[in-house]
Amino acid sequence: MPKNKQTAKTPDLPKVKKSELRSITGMRDILPQDQKYWQLLRDAAENMANIYGYGRLDTPILEPTDLFVRGVGKQTDIVEKEMFSFVDQGGDNLSLRPEATASVVRSYIEHGMLNKPQPVKFFYMGPMFRHEKPQAGRYRQLWQIGFESIGESNPAMDAQIILVAYNILKEAHLDSIIQVNSIGCSDCRKKYKDELVAYYKPQVKMLCNSCKTRINKNPLRLLDCKDDDCQQLKDEAPQIVDYLCDDCKNHFMKVVEYLDELDLPYVLNPWIVRGLDYYSKTIFEYWDSDDVEGKNALGGGGRYDGLVKLLGGREETHACGVALGMDRIVSKMREKEIEVKEIYQPQIFIAQLGESAKRKAMSLFEKMRQQGHYRLSQAFYKDSLRAQLDMANKTKADITLIIGQKEINDKTIIVRDMESGVQEIVNFDKIEDDLKKRLSRIEKEKSSKFFEAENDEKENKTIQGGQN
Ligand code: HAM
Repeated sequence: MPKNKQTAKTPDLPKVKKSELRSITGMRDILPQDQKYWQLLRDAAENMANIYGYGRLDTPILEPTDLFVRGVGKQTDIVEKEMFSFVDQGGDNLSLRPEATASVVRSYIEHGMLNKPQPVKFFYMGPMFRHEKPQAGRYRQLWQIGFESIGESNPAMDAQIILVAYNILKEAHLDSIIQVNSIGCSDCRKKYKDELVAYYKPQVKMLCNSCKTRINKNPLRLLDCKDDDCQQLKDEAPQIVDYLCDDCKNHFMKVVEYLDELDLPYVLNPWIVRGLDYYSKTIFEYWDSDDVEGKNALGGGGRYDGLVKLLGGREETHACGVALGMDRIVSKMREKEIEVKEIYQPQIFIAQLGESAKRKAMSLFEKMRQQGHYRLSQAFYKDSLRAQLDMANKTKADITLIIGQKEINDKTIIVRDMESGVQEIVNFDKIEDDLKKRLSRIEKEKSSKFFEAENDEKENKTIQGGQN
């Protein structure tokens, strides 16, 4: 090698203390012990998607920045302040997706789905990225579950979207109140915006600094400012429902009628406007029943009839959708101490003592796993029986099967009932019959306990109700 040619060397990095290697502000790990909450949501979402016919769509996490600038809107907080954007090695302007509706529409157009029977209905789950001020309920990597229906104008579609997300919150045992409004079509909005500006202009001095800018750029956003003075002014402000054209008014009335029919808990809230520019007609948010000011909406969505065309679609295409914030739902569930069952609850733990017993136990485990009748667990890497029984207890297995040298010689197996601690010796050949009987008895006992607990809870509620 020529003397003056430098070999590639890792540059000397500054020494970092172990404690400095942490996840980025606003981004976090979701640990195995917390996954049961997330799994409940994932299952509920998949179930709703199947029942109501929404097909899963996974779009890339990185998209051209322009997609969000055009889709979400240049003057929205998301695009103005919150995107993680950069220029890549090839000179392309890219952004981590701050939301997924624009991506879903891009995909719909890119794959020519306009030619499929309409509507095309999508469902997604995944992380979004917004560089927001870190505070309770606001993450920079946030997880959403979303449903989008593209190609349908019927108000029954709006109602279905509202229902599907409400049902997922219900599955998570959360009581939410749906806040519904209509911001009409661009014609109604234009008239309304003029009225709003005329109302606020003489009182501009009383507005917060952000709203002083909003009044010219995005007057609708004046209505959902949380500043105390702005809130007070809002009370007397004109309401959009009074400016809706006949078509928008009829559409909104129909949506509300369907919500009544479905017996959904909603309020008409003229002050919700949503922070993304693509909406038209129906908009809505889900507020937990404890969150009266809607500081941490659990989800939100609406109709976006103009977005497909705006992003390059050939025709005017009606659409609506919703996204739920998984992080906020999970923290509400924890705050309310909602019990969630473990993701995997083993019935049978297989334990062993001694080298040949370990081999026998391993092959028994595989045989039983392949049969597919049992939920199994093991710790074959442990030699101590005590340690294995501790593990069986921790996993809350109902039964532990124990094999030692004696059991191999006698062609038997020990069956231990983990609740009572009673052990019985069973012939190795008879183990399947024995397990079948035991497990069916255990399941019956568990379900009668469950119904007793449910009845107790109902009685308690009735007594409390009676006292009020
Ligand atoms: P969004 O209101 O921006 O709507 O977000 C939906 C939900 O995501 C919020 O209600 C909230 O629960 C959660 N969320 C938003 N930002 C954060 C954050 N920084 N930390 C934690 N959770 C957050 C949309 O994203 C639209 N794409 C919804 C939609 C779908 N509209 C039509 N289709």
